[in-house]
Amino acid sequence: MSGVAIADEWLTVEQAATLLQVNPATIYRWCKSGEIAHTRVGRTYRVHRASLERRPGGAGGALANARPGEPAPASALARPRVIAVTNQKGGVGKTTTAVNLGAALAERGLRVVLIDMDPQANATATLTGREDLMPSLTDVLLHHVEPSRVIVPAARVPNLWVLPANIGLTDVELHLMAKLGREFLLRPVVAQLTRAYDVVIIDCPPSIGVLTISGLVAADEFIVPVRPHLYSAMGIKKLFAPSPSCARRATTRRCG
Ligand SMILES: Nc1ncnc2c1ncn2[C@@H]1O[C@H](COP(=O)(O)OP(=O)(O)OP(=O)(O)O)[C@@H](O)[C@H]1O
Ligand SMILES: [Mg+2]
Repeated sequence: MSGVAIADEWLTVEQAATLLQVNPATIYRWCKSGEIAHTRVGRTYRVHRASLERRPGGAGGALANARPGEPAPASALARPRVIAVTNQKGGVGKTTTAVNLGAALAERGLRVVLIDMDPQANATATLTGREDLMPSLTDVLLHHVEPSRVIVPAARVPNLWVLPANIGLTDVELHLMAKLGREFLLRPVVAQLTRAYDVVIIDCPPSIGVLTISGLVAADEFIVPVRPHLYSAMGIKKLFAPSPSCARRATTRRCG
């Protein structure tokens, strides 16, 4: 990860306040309410520049003006896209697809967040160089930690962020296996993210458990990578076989 890139994207509270011409206390308030993506360095906040652009109230104009000569951010999509990359067969290229799709869209100027739903944390490791980040998606799903406190920027790819996984995600499967409504686990998180990002990509694990089902229920679209191989193709069939709980309870258009 390039330190220069991070320093460029993460602003101190004072820098953000100057940029938006508001009181630093306002920036602190937005951080605390989760209105803008931020991280903590000791006792102070660092604010993510791109999240200021998306803040209701039109900070984008102020930011565009703040960097004369820099191309304006690409116009957002007409509606946010939520794409799950899934196949219960392992090793077929789900993570590779999710990461590269995310990077390609981010390169085009869209704000992209990748949710790593796989306890293996391959996407997290690829994008951040770490697979033990804390807090992680586990804290969002089990302990209701604000996603904006967990999301981190991808190394070397501006406009791309990751909601990181770690091995603790296996606890989510275990804790929620028998819980009613478990397939809706991710949906409120995704709904929140679509207010700040243009594209949400969900990298599913190689199984059809709580994590994958909740990823599918939260998504509008699927990508199913396959290898030209019998067992990989069989994974598609299993994925689209109606799941009783999914078909009964979920209202997503393509589920079941
Ligand atoms: N298009 C491709 N051509 C050749 N190799 C590929 C391609 N896509 C992925 N790979 C390789 O296949 C391997 C598995 O890829 P990847 O980890 O993306 O699969 P996955 O479906 O996410 O695996 P898992 O099910 O374990 O999460 C990796 O070594 C990756 O580099
Ligand atoms: Mg994977």
